[in-house]
Amino acid sequence: MAKLTVEDLDLEGKKVLMRVDFNVPIKDGVIGNDNRIVAALKTIQYVTDKGGRAILLSHLGRIKKEEDKPALSMRPVAERLSNLLNKPVTFVPTTEGTQLEDAINGLNNGDVLVMENTRYEDVVNGEYVKRESGNDPELGKYWASLGDVFVNDAFGTAHRAHASNVGIASNMPQAAAGFLMEKEIKFIGEAVDNPVHPFVAILGGAKVSDKIGVINNLLSKADKVIVGGGMTYTFYAAQGMTIGNSLVEVDKIDLAKEILDKAGDKLVLPIDSVVAKEFNNDAEHKIVEGNIPDGYMALDIGPKSVDLFKDVLKDAKTVVWNGPMGVFEMSNYAKGTLEVGEFLGTLTDATTIVGGGDSTAAVQQLGVGDRLTHISTGGGASLEYLEGKTLPGIASISDK
Ligand code: 3PG
Repeated sequence: MAKLTVEDLDLEGKKVLMRVDFNVPIKDGVIGNDNRIVAALKTIQYVTDKGGRAILLSHLGRIKKEEDKPALSMRPVAERLSNLLNKPVTFVPTTEGTQLEDAINGLNNGDVLVMENTRYEDVVNGEYVKRESGNDPELGKYWASLGDVFVNDAFGTAHRAHASNVGIASNMPQAAAGFLMEKEIKFIGEAVDNPVHPFVAILGGAKVSDKIGVINNLLSKADKVIVGGGMTYTFYAAQGMTIGNSLVEVDKIDLAKEILDKAGDKLVLPIDSVVAKEFNNDAEHKIVEGNIPDGYMALDIGPKSVDLFKDVLKDAKTVVWNGPMGVFEMSNYAKGTLEVGEFLGTLTDATTIVGGGDSTAAVQQLGVGDRLTHISTGGGASLEYLEGKTLPGIASISDK
């Protein structure tokens, strides 16, 4: 069912509570990658252009003790937002109380305010009480009382039922999706629920155990499921192949056998690999077909696998990609991921969607992201969405 969106709201002069996901990598106060901030700009700008007073809430990292707080302040994020919007942004270094309330009441139409990390509420008086992460009913109610309307644009947090998303929504007459949330629902939701066929999924990453939910869900929806990355070798082991020193989850070999039996020729595995003597970019490495020899570990898919995958992908109308094909962080083992990404960029007739933290980092690092249809801002959220789960953050947004 279609969700209410920010465009359905009357925003002029309203205090607009906005849940955004500004959980960006940060070290010593320096933001590593601001994609999630950039991705929220469209909604923030829309709200302020319409005369709304934007009050932004986000978590940053995980706070379990008082000492975690200083390094996870939202202040640098508010500063980056101010630079990106090219206008002043008020930062309030607290999550409740008169300082916050006065600052909100002092906003003019078109102003933007960022309050402190919502997870500061997880530790109160030195105690780990999880008020935000545990969706404390009083906290959601209090935050809801600070605004007139609620816009949830935090897709990256949609798999969490926390006070700042689900809690606020349940204390407002209506909750609307922002443009980013709307876009994520449109691309990932539609790919999973109602894909244009042929639908091909590409699943990579190290562990079968991390991806089992996605594999099972997409095997029931996709026409082909390509598997690459480290988890390949648990499937190899399940087929009785040798895997040398490659990554393997011994306790998941039986599960891999069950998947192989169930999937039949729907599941496509690599047929060759780049193998190295050590987990090191400069280690002696070579390409082998099939079995991995003793003393070597597989760190990337080989060129014949790339050709095989391209052949499977060439007529696809919908492609969902989650997880890299190899150790893309090391240049000698990045080629498989890069070539798959570049090939997806040539599929102009297909909707190509990348979801998940590692694959998103891979396409960005390798410079192929701008040729794909949608790069999700969700890590855990896009994984759970691809598993077919109901995400509480989305469920709590009002239907149209
Ligand atoms: C993410 O980065 O996946 C989201 O911001 C959620 O963060 P969390 O896993 O700490 O809840």
